[in-house]
Amino acid sequence: MSQAHTPGRSLGGRFAEATDPILERINRSVDVDQRMWSQDLAGSMAHVQMLGSVGLLSEDDVSAISRGLTAIRSEFEAGTFAFEEADEDIHMAVERRLTELVGQPARRLHTGRSRNDQVMTDLMLWMREEGEAMREVLVGLIEAFLTQAQAGHDTPMPSFTHLQPAQVSSVAQWALSHAAELVGHLRRWDDFLARLDQCPLGSGASVGSYLPLDRQHTAKALGFARPSLNAMASTGGRTEVMDALGVLAMIGSSISRLGEELVIFASPLFGFIRLPDRLTTGSSLLPQKRNPDGAELLRGEGKMAAQDFAGLVSATSGLLSGYAKDLQCDKTLLFRAWDRTTDLLTLAGLHVEALAFDEAKLRAACKPSLASLWLADQLVLSGLPFRRAHHWVGLAARAGSERGLELAEAFAAVIAEHDDAPEAGERLAKELTGLTPDDLLAGLATEGSAGPESTRAQVVAVREMIGGA
Ligand code: ARG
Repeated sequence: MSQAHTPGRSLGGRFAEATDPILERINRSVDVDQRMWSQDLAGSMAHVQMLGSVGLLSEDDVSAISRGLTAIRSEFEAGTFAFEEADEDIHMAVERRLTELVGQPARRLHTGRSRNDQVMTDLMLWMREEGEAMREVLVGLIEAFLTQAQAGHDTPMPSFTHLQPAQVSSVAQWALSHAAELVGHLRRWDDFLARLDQCPLGSGASVGSYLPLDRQHTAKALGFARPSLNAMASTGGRTEVMDALGVLAMIGSSISRLGEELVIFASPLFGFIRLPDRLTTGSSLLPQKRNPDGAELLRGEGKMAAQDFAGLVSATSGLLSGYAKDLQCDKTLLFRAWDRTTDLLTLAGLHVEALAFDEAKLRAACKPSLASLWLADQLVLSGLPFRRAHHWVGLAARAGSERGLELAEAFAAVIAEHDDAPEAGERLAKELTGLTPDDLLAGLATEGSAGPESTRAQVVAVREMIGGA
């Protein structure tokens, strides 16, 4: 039995029976990849112009196809484009509709092209276009931190390592620690966008074409610097998508840490910050509760982009060079991580903008013991080797906790009890008594430190890096 067309088959001649429904359903990616309709049309438009320019399509065919593609664009824009059950992916859907609209010329559209180069071209165009919006929300969050920093240069706050109070820091230093990390992500993002400069179109299935395609032409028309270096690499790998997911994973990790800090700082046991009602939720049972669900979601959901990154690395690992259908999951992972990151950056921005610091609580948390490093450094300035200085202050800390004394009294006691005590000891014990958190903060002089001069310089530097005035 010979058939011109097998029912239930979009790719014709090779098959004698229809695709099994379960395979058809799993294989179908149009629900996910229709998001790239605009880029798919742009790619087809560039391809068809190129085919015309090298004489592979007649002028009539080029104009018929272009007219059809323009009509399809209008349908998408108007929300009237109708997908059909048999549309496997966005590429097949567009070609099917083009055939309905312009007839025979549509059958020449796929000349010299594979969906393997088409899908990567679409995806790279999509990331390049949407990448700007991601950049903007990221910059928005950085700006929110800068605003907090500017209000908090002189507001003391304890710093923690291992969640143990460490030194007197400031609200500005805390805010800038986030801004500095995020500005690093911004640079990574810009690098990733700049690397989307090689056009896969014209790679075909994986080793190119026998037709005289002009890849420079399509690359230029689509705004790429050049055609991809190797047709097999640019269709059979997903490193560009991994690049995106890698940065999104890092952004997510930073957001997750912010979430954890907000949860801790907002706990009544700390009371450093108050979150607005609109960013907290109630308990179904406990009437007094104001739960930081938003911050907890920053913490929890922030971790997820790393899962998506790991998912793609795992999907591509172990594959032979050249395209395999395993790669189709890339868009599910990318779009999911992308949308989530946009939401989380926005939600994080709302939190940071709305943060109200309780200065009295912050000051009260700057306990006298936070002057320990100051004391050790003063001993160093008086000529002691640092390890000796560390030892003397350590003795004072121990005496303090054993005898229930504050650092100044404990240090004075230790100095008085040892006849080999450092000479500067007595003077420093007195200086320590009057020392405030503000003094400790102002005394930090190194670049990048929490000292107000440093945090002011950091604000200027971050502003410059985000391209602000
Ligand atoms: N929908 C496919 C994907 O996203 C397009 C490429 C299909 N290529 C193929 N040879 N079946 O990966």
